[in-house]
Parts: sequence; structure tokens; C-alpha cells
Amino acid sequence: MDLKGRDFLKLLDFTPEEITYLVDLAADLKDKKKKGILVDHMHRGKNIALIFEKTSTRTRCSFEVAAHDLGMGTTYLEPASSQIGKKESIADTARVLSGMFEGIEYRGFDQSIVEELAKYSKVPVWNGLTNEFHPTQMLADLLTIREHFGYLKGIKLAYMGDARYNMGNSYMVTCAKMGMHFVACTTEKYFPDAALVEQCKEIAAQTGGSITLTEDAMAGTKGADVVCTDVWVSMGEPDEVWAERIKELSPYQVNKTIMDNAGEQAIFMHCLPAFHDLNTKIGAEIAERFHITEMEVTDEVFESSQSLVFEEAENRMHTIKAVMAATLE
Ligand code: CP
Ligand code: NVA
Repeated sequence: MDLKGRDFLKLLDFTPEEITYLVDLAADLKDKKKKGILVDHMHRGKNIALIFEKTSTRTRCSFEVAAHDLGMGTTYLEPASSQIGKKESIADTARVLSGMFEGIEYRGFDQSIVEELAKYSKVPVWNGLTNEFHPTQMLADLLTIREHFGYLKGIKLAYMGDARYNMGNSYMVTCAKMGMHFVACTTEKYFPDAALVEQCKEIAAQTGGSITLTEDAMAGTKGADVVCTDVWVSMGEPDEVWAERIKELSPYQVNKTIMDNAGEQAIFMHCLPAFHDLNTKIGAEIAERFHITEMEVTDEVFESSQSLVFEEAENRMHTIKAVMAATLE
């Protein structure tokens, strides 16, 4: 398998075999890390640029730690300290950075931006989250699911909440590619884009997976192996949408009733950050405005033994390391 020079923009661009190769490589790199086997010879002396137009804890730390482990240097560009999009176009930025760095990570808004960056870049571009997709998160989730169950094909994954944004779209694509059964449980308004649903159904028909969209949370989560969700309001969305999201998505909260309905085998996953208590500024503000103490997931589920969210978070680093190790020339 040779992925050298490839961009990593969305899983739609990769075959199931290529995705499996990246998950296998991540598992191997994780094993090496645990055993203290250094891999800093792999890309020693190279440098990568990390462009973040939205905030991050996991993705930024994963890229920085993984790059360091591979022997590379990193430069972090935050929105306020770079010219991107304000004084300099994406195309010009790509050509400038290509001359100094061996790889570029981009987190920001429209998928078209990261696609344009990749078009003009001479070095691999990695998508660290856009409005539409979060592909590095998907590799971490696949590794976590495979570590837990031992396989991916045939796994039933039920996604609760806002299914038409980066996490919902990405899970649907991932399940289709890997022969898994994806169920979006939400109101019709939050179903993924119809064209993407059709595309995923066609892929799933080839891999043995399936795509289901339902408003019935109990039917959708029945017997699910993985129950997952995401924040109800994503980065970059206006504050004004909180009221409607709470009203419309509360019936799709992941709570004990849902986990019991899924069954004892079910695990809970969340890309994080999650609103499961009042220990955040926004969580406390929302509690005051709307009189709710938990949102997309209850604290009981988040803290339960079925919850694998911190294993999932750690796997961000191992999988991002695999993406860089595989695609860098
Ligand atoms: N899951 C995830 O992407 O987290 P960050 O926003 O902290 O990077
Ligand atoms: N949907 C969330 C994911 C965060 C990792 C967001 O875009 O804010």
C-alpha cells in the first residue's frame, strides 16, 4: 500500500483497503509507543504547518505530539496570527507553505477551502475538521471500535442528534466504506444531505453495509453496538440556534434508557468536547438560560463503563500519526 503524497481530505476519497491500512498502521504505531519504541527516524528533519481557523484541544495536540514522535517540527497558525483568507488567498497560502513545509493540516469552515488548499499545495494536506467532514476523527473511532469488538464489518452504529454536520456525515461515509450499519436517529430536519445519503447507500451496497435514517430513537438504537452523538451546536454556528436545537434534539439525547435499549454490548462514543455536566462556561450558561443540566449525553452515560470517550480521544494521536507517516513523501 503506497499512500505517499496523498491528501487526506475525506474518507470518500479512500478505498476500504486504504482505510484499513491506516487503522492497522495506527495500531502498530500505538503498540510501538506503548513499548517505548521510537519512530523519530521516520520523518526526521521535516516540518509541518498546522492551520487552525477554529479552536481545538485534541486535534492540535495530536498533530503536535505525533509530529514530534515522527521526528518533525511544527508551526501552529491560529486565525488571529496569519494572513489566510484576509490578506492572502487560499491558493497563494498553499503555494507559500508548500515551499517551507512537507505537510499542511487545515481546520476550518467549508470543505471547499481544504480542497482548494490541497489543489494548490505541492505537499500533502490533511483535513483537521471542516463543516462537512472530520476524517481524522473517523480513523480514531474505527481504531477504538476495532480494539473493543475485534472487527468492524457488520457493526451497527447509531448516531443521535445533528446528523447533517461534520460528525454525522463522516460516520455515514465511514460505515458505508467499512461495511458497517449506520443509523441516524434524529428529526428529518437534521438528516444528512440527500445526495450524500444516496452516494453512501451505493457504497454500502458494495461493502455489505447499510444506511438508515429514522426519527424513532428507540427503534434506531435497538441492538446497536455503538451509540454516538456530538454537540448540538457546532463551532462557527451562531448562538441564536441554541433554543431550537435544545427543543428539537432533546428527544435524541443519549441517556440510560437509550443505552439499555441498545443492550449490554453497546459502547458510547463522542468526539468531544461534550456537554454532560455544568463544569464548562457554556454548559453553565445554557443551564441558566434553558434550565437543563445535561445536553447531548447524560453524565451517567458519559461516566459509565460503556463510555469509551477517553480511549477514543487518545486514539486521535495514534491515527493522526499514521496519516502523516503514510502520506508524507
Ligand atoms: N474531537 C476533536 O476534534 O476535538 P478538538 O476540537 O479538541 O480538536
Ligand atoms: N461538530 C463539532 C465537532 C467538534 C470536534 C464541531 O464542529 O464543533
